[in-house]
Amino acid sequence: MKVKVHISNVDKIYKGTSRDVHALDNVSLDIYENEFVCVIGSSGCGKSTMLNILAGLDTPTSGKIQIDGQDISGTGIDRGVVFQQYALFPWLTVGQNVAFGLEMQKLPKEEINTKVDHYLEAVSLLDFKNSYPKELSGGMKQRVAIARAYAVNPKVLLMDEPFGALDAQTRAQLQCELIDTWQKEKKTCFFITHDVDEAVFLAQRVVIMSPRPGRIKSIVEIPIPYPRLPETKLTKEFNDIKNSIWKEVYKEYLAEKK
Ligand SMILES: Nc1ncnc2c1ncn2[C@@H]1O[C@H](COP(=O)(O)OP(=O)(O)O)[C@@H](O)[C@H]1O
Ligand SMILES: [Mg+2]
Repeated sequence: MKVKVHISNVDKIYKGTSRDVHALDNVSLDIYENEFVCVIGSSGCGKSTMLNILAGLDTPTSGKIQIDGQDISGTGIDRGVVFQQYALFPWLTVGQNVAFGLEMQKLPKEEINTKVDHYLEAVSLLDFKNSYPKELSGGMKQRVAIARAYAVNPKVLLMDEPFGALDAQTRAQLQCELIDTWQKEKKTCFFITHDVDEAVFLAQRVVIMSPRPGRIKSIVEIPIPYPRLPETKLTKEFNDIKNSIWKEVYKEYLAEKK
């Protein structure tokens, strides 16, 4: 297996006026090509910090990040990012939003159009190509954001709780669609969530982080075969894995309660 993302000994300390925050402590992780990795941990454990560093929106205090063996420097179109809030351009149509990154790459018009249609089709939104974001539901907006991230064919997709603001039913639906797209299109995915159910459903490996300072506590392989379907969540295997990860994530919290 080829290592796509190499994270080695990453530390992040936010310097504050009254005190410093040690957000990440010696985080090392290799993510393989086309792997789907979920990172889980309670609020404030450094998940977004890790993603922002991978995206190049922030820099580590020390440590190294490489993609395909190259050090990253700043943001780049080799990394597609999807955030919880719908970062669509409200003045552009759905199609124009998906085309945006492709136009930046100065691809021929024909090619852009073909790609936009392909990825809108993949997220079942081709009929909404000429609609504006304000005409879409939250779930549809996130589907556009995912299509837009895929369209530029990044090496890695970075997603920070992309379904966090959606209702449970829409969320479950988008999880299925994301897995479906990932199986068809292939992509190295780094997906952050604080929802254990979501992590187990999506990931091949779940990385569990512990808070203050943010460390990798353990890594759990999820041996459930794909395609994973809504009924997968009803199986004993799924629930056994989910329960054991839940306990691991909230171990400190559960101990305090005793
Ligand atoms: N820009 C910042 N300046 C100072 N502290 C920050 C900043 N961003 C995050 N932190 C702190 O770093 C820790 C980790 O935050 P974050 O990565 O957002 O956690 P998570 O995404 O897991 O909830 C928290 O204690 C948070 O308050
Ligand atoms: Mg966060």
